[in-house]
Amino acid sequence: CGIIARIGPDEAIPRVLTGLENLEYRGYDSAGVALQNGSGVSVVKCSGKVNDLKERVDGTHLDGNIGIGHTRWSTHGAPTDENAHPHTNEDGDIAVVHNGIIENHQSLRDKLEETGVRFRSDTDTEVIPHLLDHYYDADTDPHTAFVEAIQQLEGSFAVAAIFDDEDAVFAARRGSPLVMGLGEDQYFLASDVPAFLEYTDEVVYFEDGDVATVRPDGVDITTLEGEPVDREIDTVDWNPEETGKGGYEHYMLKEIDSQPTSLRNTIKGRISPSGDDVDVDAFDPETLSEFSEVQFVACGTSYHAALYGTTLLNEAGVRARTYRASEYQMASDPVTEETLVVSVTQSGETADTLGAMRRASREGATVLTVTNVMGSSAARAADETVYIHAGPEIGVAATKTFSSQTVTLALLAQRLAAHMSGEREHRDLEPALDALTSLPDDLGRMLEGDDAERIANRFLGSDAYFFIGRGLGYPVAKESALKFKEITYEHAEGFASGELKHGPLALVTPQTPVFAVFTGEHDEKTLKNAKEAQTRGAPIVAVAKEGHPAIEATDAHLPIPDTDPMWSGLLANVQLQLVSYHAANELGRSIDKPRNLAKSVTVE
Ligand code: G6P
Repeated sequence: CGIIARIGPDEAIPRVLTGLENLEYRGYDSAGVALQNGSGVSVVKCSGKVNDLKERVDGTHLDGNIGIGHTRWSTHGAPTDENAHPHTNEDGDIAVVHNGIIENHQSLRDKLEETGVRFRSDTDTEVIPHLLDHYYDADTDPHTAFVEAIQQLEGSFAVAAIFDDEDAVFAARRGSPLVMGLGEDQYFLASDVPAFLEYTDEVVYFEDGDVATVRPDGVDITTLEGEPVDREIDTVDWNPEETGKGGYEHYMLKEIDSQPTSLRNTIKGRISPSGDDVDVDAFDPETLSEFSEVQFVACGTSYHAALYGTTLLNEAGVRARTYRASEYQMASDPVTEETLVVSVTQSGETADTLGAMRRASREGATVLTVTNVMGSSAARAADETVYIHAGPEIGVAATKTFSSQTVTLALLAQRLAAHMSGEREHRDLEPALDALTSLPDDLGRMLEGDDAERIANRFLGSDAYFFIGRGLGYPVAKESALKFKEITYEHAEGFASGELKHGPLALVTPQTPVFAVFTGEHDEKTLKNAKEAQTRGAPIVAVAKEGHPAIEATDAHLPIPDTDPMWSGLLANVQLQLVSYHAANELGRSIDKPRNLAKSVTVE
């Protein structure tokens, strides 16, 4: 879910709505706003997307310079009008938006109901406005009531509340993201920076336990116990243009096309001037030499990027394994002081990943996070942070961040392998680094072609889509299948090439195209596996450089530029991102906001 609040001298509604549009990647089941105008609180909310909300707002007279808003990804309660935020107390003079989960909501609800309170929704959030109402009486003020209510909550939350008789927004966080934007004469509170980036790049990241009172003329931040706290003002280096569609029909295509730039930013300053070493700012060599193994934890696309890093570390003789973060908490190998846990998370807010990081820290591991978001919960929780510098990504399906993650992890793997106890011969780094320097240009040239669209159209209407790869091609096969299913809603699976014959071949028919990723390593074996599927009738698409022997032997060719095998998987992945995009577009899918998904899932 995403929350926003805005307080300033003029009407809040346009900025709250823009903020919600920019946060919609966090959830789009329902949306709502509440405005305070000195004489009351007005709420408009509905199931559906922010656009549906805008239509409702158009017919309403909503004025006020203090506003809060919410875009929802349902957890407790179906996406109905009643369950949409903001939630209010019975009199409707207190309104609340919330991201996170109130774990003790049932017991709070029971107690409130015993006192006669009538609930209108199935959400955990609704306890908050009723609690605020309960604590706010003739002997208290809204701030005291807010603090008392927050103290009752267990679980994770970022909350913003308004009262009809107080010119302020009250906010608090624990475990869910909350950031403040400081504009020239206005303040914003939001789950993430893109919500207000067009108005300001000056931000304050709140810490867990912070309570903020934001008034038109200033901000107070305290602990829950009322101790004043000072938080630094940071300047974010994201460009507001990156959060707009820039003339594209979809964010996803814009973000795919922007990869030459995002990759340049990822690489910048990370290849040593001599061109044969990497410079990723993560621990000093002495600390690194104390680690004997690496455990990666991640979800979704980030998990596939982590597989890429694991493969490279294993090749270099470093013990490394990738875990699905949601499983790591139940069953991981034991960690010791010599374990480096690397969490990979674009948003830095994925609850499963944060949970895995917490477990690792508790058990004594050192935790490094590879993330895209400054000040994110992962960056705060980790002992060390490496940023991928991909810029904001709005499309729910991750594209440019996967490419930046794989490059960052490849460079990080080099640094770890160089200082940890790797016994094997490392890859010769120089050609790979040399190729990396020209990778953004290679990518740019590739993006000019229309091969992906042609291939997408040719195979549209198939029963299922399979992706295979070996070595560094394997994570690409997995990631390409995930992308395809996320945005086309068609059945897609990614397999290790060698595994096809151990089961999946039973699924193969002339209606199941197989995309085979040729990275320049282990290609003969991949081709053999592809042919095993071809013999059973499946059309094979070779994702390979021009002139590759696989082209002759297969049914269709999706070309990638010639580069070092360390990066060809990344180029193949971008071509396959485009195949997914064009297939989904042809099928008329909701590409930027696929059904049932959210970009950043802040519940376990
Ligand atoms: C969600 C998104 C995926 C994403 C995953 C991990 O499930 O829909 O696209 O890969 O979260 O996100 P993270 O921000 O941790 O990389």
